Amino acid sequence: MKLADINRKNWTETLSLEWSATYRYKMQTAIFNNPRIVAIIDGIMRNESDHIDIAQKHLLPEFEPKVKGFQTILFFLYLNLEFERFANKSYAGFAREAEDPRSKEDFLRLVKSEGGHAKIFREMIEQIENGNFPVVIICPVCGWELDFGSSPKEGAMAQCEKCKVEFRLVEKQGDWDVERI
Ligand SMILES: [Fe+2]
Ligand SMILES: [Fe+2]
Repeated sequence: MKLADINRKNWTETLSLEWSATYRYKMQTAIFNNPRIVAIIDGIMRNESDHIDIAQKHLLPEFEPKVKGFQTILFFLYLNLEFERFANKSYAGFAREAEDPRSKEDFLRLVKSEGGHAKIFREMIEQIENGNFPVVIICPVCGWELDFGSSPKEGAMAQCEKCKVEFRLVEKQGDWDVERI
């Protein structure tokens, strides 16, 4: 079943709100020194993470990746791109509305940063979809890198340079992963 556009938009917005809530509460549990308040905020934060799962459950199946093995990464990169474009546009509006020159200058600074972030995500998505981004997986035995190069075939083999264990590249639920041989 396809999500209607309005559902997609609202679940995307929900995800942004819940991610920002999680960050907000994580930061506060790190700086507050009252254990009772930290415990309450920690409880709320865990509940927000359930909300994140709910929003992702609605959005992820809607996503049809154009390339094999990058489903989860591409899903999040597209959301990041959308977010950075939104931030860029919002701050440009805030800069226009600013009544003091210091606010205007700082909003314009943010516009530049967010524009840069959007470009980074757009180019990364392009590279992945054109098969030019290397498939590198963390070695599950020692934590080093297993490099399968760009556009590898499923079943490709790699030996870890550090622990010398051999792995086969497999696709699991749309994502590249490795199996020990
Ligand atoms: Fe940004
Ligand atoms: Fe290894």
